[in-house]
Amino acid sequence: MNETIVSVRDLSVRYRTKDVTTYAADHVSFDLARGKVLALVGESGSGKSTVAMALLRILPTQATITGGSVLFDGRELMDMSDRELRGIRGRRMAMIFQDPIAGLNPVISIGDQVAETLTSHLQVNKKEAKARALTILREVGLPDPERVAKAYPFQLSGGMCQRVMIGIATALDPEVLIADEPTSALDVTVQAQILHQLQQLREKRGTTILLITHDFGVVAQAADEVAVMYAGRVIESGATREMLTRPLHPYSHALLATLPRLDGAGGPLHAIPGAPPSLSEPSERCPFIPRCGKVMNVCRNEPPPALVRPEGANHDVACYNPIWRG
Ligand SMILES: Nc1ncnc2c1ncn2[C@@H]1O[C@H](COP(=O)(O)OP(=O)(O)OP(=O)(O)O)[C@@H](O)[C@H]1O
Ligand code: SF4
Ligand SMILES: [Mg+2]
Repeated sequence: MNETIVSVRDLSVRYRTKDVTTYAADHVSFDLARGKVLALVGESGSGKSTVAMALLRILPTQATITGGSVLFDGRELMDMSDRELRGIRGRRMAMIFQDPIAGLNPVISIGDQVAETLTSHLQVNKKEAKARALTILREVGLPDPERVAKAYPFQLSGGMCQRVMIGIATALDPEVLIADEPTSALDVTVQAQILHQLQQLREKRGTTILLITHDFGVVAQAADEVAVMYAGRVIESGATREMLTRPLHPYSHALLATLPRLDGAGGPLHAIPGAPPSLSEPSERCPFIPRCGKVMNVCRNEPPPALVRPEGANHDVACYNPIWRG
């Protein structure tokens, strides 16, 4: 069995609307290790959701994957036919969307939506599917599943919709679950419950999870590994503990420096001085130059640095002058 279940290499995506082109993902590379949780972290607009949607090939029509490779269990997803992709989506790799309400169909009852996931992929009749839908709703911790099953998304809270989405995404027991900011719209207590649920999935079923978040507290609590995105690029990646205690990239370093450390809980990303660059042109230089306190001539004269492991380090960074404490 492959230890790496998803391997992303040099994935690039751009959006083209009437008058703007956005280079949203630029040579993104990372690996998802089977049964582990990888957190994809970054400020708003850094390209996290774009990467997630590219993995399932569910990008909106204005997006084009301009290059790169995504191997799923050793097979190239970029070359798969729609039919082959349908066999993978939902069944082997599923996604919980960032907006729980938008992720559900507003005009179909919750019970029917869960049941439909089952009937469209498994050999079950409608009655069996409805009964199983109730079990699924119960398993994701929803009180009174019978009532929830009859409800429509607008009648539920954000946290309840998020649980329904988790139920739908995990109904077919996928090997990989992509959870796009599954907790950001929720209050702290519900956030903790949802995270706990994801951890249970990983422990009980060995689900591999790509957890998208902008919260380092969530990272510290739930992720084995982290990849940090900045302006469409992965600028640092490695084991969570290593990354959080010895960040190598000036951006990660600045982000972590803004967090309250003593309680160890972390928190959401805070703004660091300056703004991320516009993504309307492909980066010809390191995109962090305008905000970086460690710029050297090489940064201004060479293409963006590749993600590599500095000699003696235990994780990877894309920087010509990483913060290095030996
Ligand atoms: N459908 C779209 N059409 C045009 N541009 C888009 C579209 N979706 C995203 N973008 C642009 O692509 C870039 C990356 O967006 P993306 O949603 O992937 O970022 P993100 O890291 O998920 O942000 P957030 O934390 O706010 O969810 C942004 O500049 C965004 O404006
Ligand atoms: S490559 Fe240069 S500009 Fe970019 S983050 Fe590293 S030191 Fe700063
Ligand atoms: Mg997003």
